[in-house]
Amino acid sequence: MKQFQPSDAIKRLPEQFFAKLAGKVNRYVEAGYDIINLGQGNPDQPTPRHVIDALQAAAEKPAYHKYPPFRGQPFLKKAASEFYKREFGVDLDPETEVAVLFGGKAGLVEVSQCLLNKGDVALVPDPGYPDYWSGVAMAEADMHMMPLLEQNDFLPDYEAIPEELLSKAKLMFLNYPNNPTAAQATEAFFNETVSFANDQDLCVVHDFAYGAIGFDGERPRSFLETKGAKEVGIEIYTLSKTYNMAGWRVGFAVGNPSVVESINILQDHFYVSLFSAVQEAAAEALLGSQECVDELRATYESRRNVLINGLHDIGWDVTSPSGSFFAWLKVPDRFTSEQFADFLLDNVQIVVAPGNGFGEHGEGYVRVGLLTSEDRLKEAVERIKSLNLF
Ligand SMILES: Cc1ncc(COP(=O)(O)O)c(C=O)c1O
Repeated sequence: MKQFQPSDAIKRLPEQFFAKLAGKVNRYVEAGYDIINLGQGNPDQPTPRHVIDALQAAAEKPAYHKYPPFRGQPFLKKAASEFYKREFGVDLDPETEVAVLFGGKAGLVEVSQCLLNKGDVALVPDPGYPDYWSGVAMAEADMHMMPLLEQNDFLPDYEAIPEELLSKAKLMFLNYPNNPTAAQATEAFFNETVSFANDQDLCVVHDFAYGAIGFDGERPRSFLETKGAKEVGIEIYTLSKTYNMAGWRVGFAVGNPSVVESINILQDHFYVSLFSAVQEAAAEALLGSQECVDELRATYESRRNVLINGLHDIGWDVTSPSGSFFAWLKVPDRFTSEQFADFLLDNVQIVVAPGNGFGEHGEGYVRVGLLTSEDRLKEAVERIKSLNLF
């Protein structure tokens, strides 16, 4: 078979670190082991019934079998705007400040194409969600990794960024509640971020994928709640986690109208828009009963308690997450992240994500997902206890 060479843009894309992990896990699954997979970020609960019903009814509408309008259905953009007003008190113009996305991932990769040229710099959190790297690589821009350190509550230190890089920086990715560290942003930090972005003339892209998941009565804050935030950036919201809709591929970018316009222009060339029935169901998720979100939050909080209390009981000194559905656990001193992840997989068939897969400063940690039942989390704790590590 003739082999066509991929373009330089494809060659520049970073290797998918977690694909390698999936390969290792599959070998154990095929060999019939009882694996407890805490390594992924895939919500385990079904989409709420009323959202599925909305999709089924909407799928019957012949008007929706035609091309949807470019840039999404006006009713979905209006729903996103009403959702932001209700949840965060943020005003958004549905037509100029909301772009409909095929999931958050698409927007996060697209925004680099929209704002970066060859040689520009993007400021990227380390550890961080690897999809930020992909768009930057496609745009032939450079990355400066901002360490997220435990002693700084996993917030970046803007003063530590070298001056010569700052002058080239056009874009900065942030993500709170954070994947993988589970850290939260404070009001003071977002205020500092707005000043920094203004001073440096860069665009902030706040990835708010876990915006609905805060524990102990604390609600995660939207970057757009910060005074002046819309002047300097956008926020990417997804329905994947809030409504267990990861398979539906729907999200939106909100905020600065010039960035929203660039995303829309790029998408005019790639797509038309999402299936209108999906858009109608998404609007139902955003505007219908939010009881399902309260229940989901309570489920994750209760799982968090089971896991963290269990690990404390066996002597592992871990930090309890206050949001997201991850726990970020320090590995015992004698292991690297990858060695520890392999050790758990090989000896007790528990899968965790090694922290170094999220960047150099993820070394020394593993990420554990709260995406299985309390019984399975208890079983995981029992298996770890049997290793007598602590
Ligand atoms: C930090 C973060 N951002 C964005 C996403 C993308 O979500 P989606 O593309 O499903 O909207 C994820 C998914 O795991 C995530 O963890």
